[in-house]
Amino acid sequence: MTWNQVKNSEDSESILVVDNLSVSRSGRMIISDINLKVSRGEFIGLVGPNGSGKSTLILSILGILKPHTGLIKIYDEKPMSKNIFGKLGWVSQAAANLPSNIKITVRELVKLGTLKSSSMYKKVSNQKEKIDTAMTMVGIECCADCDVSTLSGGQRQRAVIARALASEAEFILLDEPLVGIDRESRNSLLKLLDKLCHEQQKTILMVSHDITAIRQTAHRMVYLEETIRYDGPTENFPDLTSLAGLRGITPVHDDKHTIEPHDHNKCMEEE
Ligand SMILES: Nc1ncnc2c1ncn2[C@@H]1O[C@H](COP(=O)(O)OP(=O)(O)O)[C@@H](O)[C@H]1O
Ligand SMILES: [Mg+2]
Repeated sequence: MTWNQVKNSEDSESILVVDNLSVSRSGRMIISDINLKVSRGEFIGLVGPNGSGKSTLILSILGILKPHTGLIKIYDEKPMSKNIFGKLGWVSQAAANLPSNIKITVRELVKLGTLKSSSMYKKVSNQKEKIDTAMTMVGIECCADCDVSTLSGGQRQRAVIARALASEAEFILLDEPLVGIDRESRNSLLKLLDKLCHEQQKTILMVSHDITAIRQTAHRMVYLEETIRYDGPTENFPDLTSLAGLRGITPVHDDKHTIEPHDHNKCMEEE
């Protein structure tokens, strides 16, 4: 498809359209034949084993990596286009791991989200209100003046999400935000993200290899391994044996012992 055909297609409802995308890095094709449409308010879990191209897809949507073939449009614009500036938020596990020699309070970190290149030298309107609202939304207002380095992993993830919310991002891409945080924080983070979709009509695309955790919250699952091997409602997401088939893993023994579910799950979660 050409850019104009994509722009004028019937997908005006979709905030993200990925059409026949392939991306290569250092001369090697990492993902190919990717077709994906995302609508406003969806909560999508992007899963797949380590090295399957999840981060590559996220970086391509953000416009950091350029397509080898195919097209991406976000809110009818090309990635990185000036018109969508501020509409996208990115949260990664690494984003919460600030070096310990950086002294910054939660309020200051969240304030960074309100800076936009177009307004860097102008006063941001309602800046304090935006920061306070974002901190309240993620329940971190009590730690506003705490140094980020003193927070727990879960609190730090919340602070980074608050920074994305303070930018008023509508479409939030999260890359492995659950790594290194305890079960309780993980569950409340997933609840928070679900609430943002339902109450604020935010759209969430979240990468995780913790399939068990993400299944509890995401409405839709996308399984990526070089290409998309499953895209559909979470309730129809294949069981581990079928997933092994999708991954091209064939039974080693007889048909009763295709794959040991516990071990497979463990491998996926520990990657
Ligand atoms: N800069 C790079 N140059 C070449 N290959 C890369 C680069 N970054 C990642 N890769 C490779 O691309 C594949 C997919 O990586 P990635 O998208 O990070 O996977 P995931 O996020 O699913 O773990 C891996 O095999 C990885 O080694
Ligand atoms: Mg990754």
